[in-house]
Amino acid sequence: MSLIEEYSQQYDWRAWPIIFDALPDLDGRLVLDLGCGIGDLAADLAARGARVIGVDMNDELITYAKERHIVNAQFRIGDLRTFRDPHIRADGIWSSFAAAYFPSPCDTIGSWLVHLRPGGWLALTEVDDLFGHQPLSNRTHELLNRYVEESLERSRYDFRMGRKLSGVLQQIGLVVTHEFTVPDAELSFSGPASPLVLEAWRTRFERMHLLREFCGSEFEHVRNNFLNCLKRDDHSCHATVRCCIASKKET
Ligand SMILES: C[S@@+](CC[C@H](N)C(=O)[O-])C[C@H]1O[C@@H](n2cnc3c(N)ncnc32)[C@H](O)[C@@H]1O
Repeated sequence: MSLIEEYSQQYDWRAWPIIFDALPDLDGRLVLDLGCGIGDLAADLAARGARVIGVDMNDELITYAKERHIVNAQFRIGDLRTFRDPHIRADGIWSSFAAAYFPSPCDTIGSWLVHLRPGGWLALTEVDDLFGHQPLSNRTHELLNRYVEESLERSRYDFRMGRKLSGVLQQIGLVVTHEFTVPDAELSFSGPASPLVLEAWRTRFERMHLLREFCGSEFEHVRNNFLNCLKRDDHSCHATVRCCIASKKET
């Protein structure tokens, strides 16, 4: 399955309307979608009246997003750690499932504020504790925890970013207006996974080359143990999807 197909499928498992309903009015507003992927959220924001500029560093995803010809949405290649466009002054910034990729979130997300008008909003959505599912074997639990620590130490990905969103937004000088947990049929559910969700997790494990490298000969055990856990009637989960919305002070 390609990354485009994976991202398309994931869209249905997220509870996007809950987040959209918490945003200020979008009608006629300019919104940046940072880490826009294939443009699904840009399409939703545009359908709610916004003019959207989506930015992502993945060439293939941006090409696909452009080819959708979404009305009132344009897409650009850009690295969000260095992205600057002096001509953009947005009413809102949306960024979903991208914050965990930034090793210095205050620096990166703080740098986006030059593109936000005073009084504008910034909405971040991110998962917290992606591997937080039970019951797992002690060894799987230990390896996944060590991998999570290593990813953070090496500034690759912060698996615990969801819980940090509010702190980051406050540290960069914004006023947090909403903070909530969002249901998610793939990332945050209890009881047995549906066959489609299970397949999506299998695909995710296939894509995690660094996890495979980290676990070495134990990778198969970790993956199978995790997938078996998701199938169980007594599967429980403390992974959460968090959303935090904040506004930029008027002066
Ligand atoms: C998990 S996807 C989320 C896509 C979409 N926002 C969503 O919610 O479905 C993360 C996206 O962030 C992008 N990304 C990660 N780091 C980035 C960076 N430094 N600059 C630009 N895009 C980045 C990836 O290419 C990917 O499309």
